[in-house]
Amino acid sequence: MIDSATLPSPCYLLEASKLRKNLQLIDQVQQASGCTIILALKAFAMWSAFPMVGEYLLGCSASSHNEARLARQHFGGHVHLYAPAYSATDFPSLLKLCNRISFNSLSQWQSFGKQALSAHISCGLRVNPGIDEVETDIYNPCGRESRLGIPPEEVADGFPEGIEGLHVHALCECEADSTQRLIEAVEQKFGHVLPYLKWCNLGGGHLMTRSGYDVDHLIDVLKTFRQRHPHLEIILEPGSAIAWQTGQLVSSVLDLIERGGIHIALLDTSATAHMPDVLEMPYRAEVQNADFPGNKPYTYRLAGPSCLAGDVIGDYAFNQPLSVGDTIIFEDMIHYTMVKTTMFNGVSHPSIAILHEDGAIEVVREFNYTDYEMRLS
Ligand SMILES: Cc1ncc(COP(=O)(O)O)c(C=O)c1O
Repeated sequence: MIDSATLPSPCYLLEASKLRKNLQLIDQVQQASGCTIILALKAFAMWSAFPMVGEYLLGCSASSHNEARLARQHFGGHVHLYAPAYSATDFPSLLKLCNRISFNSLSQWQSFGKQALSAHISCGLRVNPGIDEVETDIYNPCGRESRLGIPPEEVADGFPEGIEGLHVHALCECEADSTQRLIEAVEQKFGHVLPYLKWCNLGGGHLMTRSGYDVDHLIDVLKTFRQRHPHLEIILEPGSAIAWQTGQLVSSVLDLIERGGIHIALLDTSATAHMPDVLEMPYRAEVQNADFPGNKPYTYRLAGPSCLAGDVIGDYAFNQPLSVGDTIIFEDMIHYTMVKTTMFNGVSHPSIAILHEDGAIEVVREFNYTDYEMRLS
């Protein structure tokens, strides 16, 4: 049990021992399958934790100039970049930061390929395998009209000369069976290019650290894929799996009001600014010691301090009535949270802390007015 009184509120709290447990499992997959696994920064870019991640993983997958720079500066090692489009302004500086660059279209390859090759970057193309493994539409990159990746018909005659890699990202919080179907689709639709390539990046969405995930099946699927294409380096770039269930967002009750018969607890943390997937995906965040309405006697609507009418986290039932100043702990709030936050309404940004393996808590970052001011002009 963490003593939340020692933390600023609100605060993201990463538990280092849980991160290490995930990394050990991921490393086991890496060792047993012979694949390379890198961290997708879009999910988890808390750079104070990079030294631990770097004990297990060789590098990062970046999706923008800023992420590539963060990877080079704070992680080192291998930097693989993929973005849906590069700009002529950014591209030259990307060449100094990355080892591999994947292009999202043949036109982007035509615009920037020569520059990348003369900087000795290994280049790849992102393809769309057209599979349907993701239920939530905004996270499914494989629709027929998706802008993400090149459809098979555009490369029916093979990849252009100079391309060494195939990049595909088609999964989100998926099981090992989905990885198997992804590989089958890659072989079926892009099998003709594989003999000419050096690497194949199977993207993210392989949620191997979720309890119940069939890790042995994943290892098996990856191993047999490698056996069929022994000349290829196989890469996975999960994000969620690395930071899955590694910590909390600790917050406090600021006020308690009743409107239209609903008891509302106003918190110092916001759905829209601090846990946007609650509204975007949407999903129900897990709250420590709370349950669905009706399952415990005291139900409250947990809501944020912004002026957005819909800044509502959800309805939760507790054993005791809440009081102003009580701590509310949201579980599994490390991946796709602090990378997505905004300072909308100027709401206070959660601090960032680490519960180290020896039990010590270190607050690694607190935000202030200057952080808000410096985002604007
Ligand atoms: C290209 C690419 N790679 C990797 C990832 C990481 O996926 P996940 O965090 O679900 O493992 C994403 C997520 O959107 C992505 O778009």
